[in-house]
Amino acid sequence: MGSIAEIVTAIAEEMREVGSRGTVADYIPPLAAVPLDKFGMAVVMADGTVHTAGDAEEPFSIQSISKVFALTLALGAVGDQLWERVGREPSGSAFNSIVQLETEHGIPRNPFINAGAIVVTDVLLGRLQPREAIGQMLRFVRELAGDDSIAIDEMVAAAERETGFRNRALANYMRAFGTIHGDVELVLGTYFHFCALAMSCRQLALAGRYLMDGGRSDGHRVISEKRARRINALMMSCGHYDNSGDFAYRIGLPGKSGVGGGILAVAPGIASVAVWSPGLNESGNSRLGQMALERLVQRTGWSVFEPRIP
Ligand code: DON
Repeated sequence: MGSIAEIVTAIAEEMREVGSRGTVADYIPPLAAVPLDKFGMAVVMADGTVHTAGDAEEPFSIQSISKVFALTLALGAVGDQLWERVGREPSGSAFNSIVQLETEHGIPRNPFINAGAIVVTDVLLGRLQPREAIGQMLRFVRELAGDDSIAIDEMVAAAERETGFRNRALANYMRAFGTIHGDVELVLGTYFHFCALAMSCRQLALAGRYLMDGGRSDGHRVISEKRARRINALMMSCGHYDNSGDFAYRIGLPGKSGVGGGILAVAPGIASVAVWSPGLNESGNSRLGQMALERLVQRTGWSVFEPRIP
């Protein structure tokens, strides 16, 4: 096995050669315009060393990866009360599916599908105005990454608003069940702004340090160790929608994907990893992103299922 730097560089080079790169999300016009040949990777080690390769410095739309940060903020705001309005089970359905909501009385399966993240956003708006909640999110990711240049792409947020018919259906349906308490349009507007956060692989991997390091980021406590462990458990079981089982099987790390083609994955105690390639598989997860992570764990032994003899 080479050094981590060599492994990261080699994987990025290998990814350049892959022919079948998946398809770019086409339901949000600005995402459809992203070139399919992009690939970036960043690995932040527990000691703070950062290794990057490819387009690791280029901001992309983190989309559903923001659901991890929104969940963290909502747990901070209301603690375990959150679980009265959203479940903790894998959905086995697409990220924007509505089917389970009827039989399960408007309670989404988990906070990482769209319906669940919309509830999480509504919880945040129980205490804050939309503008304040968006500001809180931006400050949170900037602080986690130690980088004030992180911004929200207003063009993406506007495009989500214009094309978000399914999300509007989900939110209205849950409002009818009483799972959503606030004004549906305000909740969705806030949710769309979270999805429209633009971050590079480097920024994203840095932001994920608190999940790698038992709730601490750069030595500072962000959340408790117990909460970090639980968020990682949810990422492992629910972070890739109906593809979560396969992600656990192939990669074995807590991870969260977004339709912008990013994935944040965490090897607890070892590293925080972000990959980006805009081509998606049929479940809406980055095809090369998953392939790159699979090669990374094969070459490093970072899967959480690897036997670790103390
Ligand atoms: O709600 C949506 O449709 C998007 N803004 C976010 C979805 C997403 O990233 C799902 N991910 N794979």
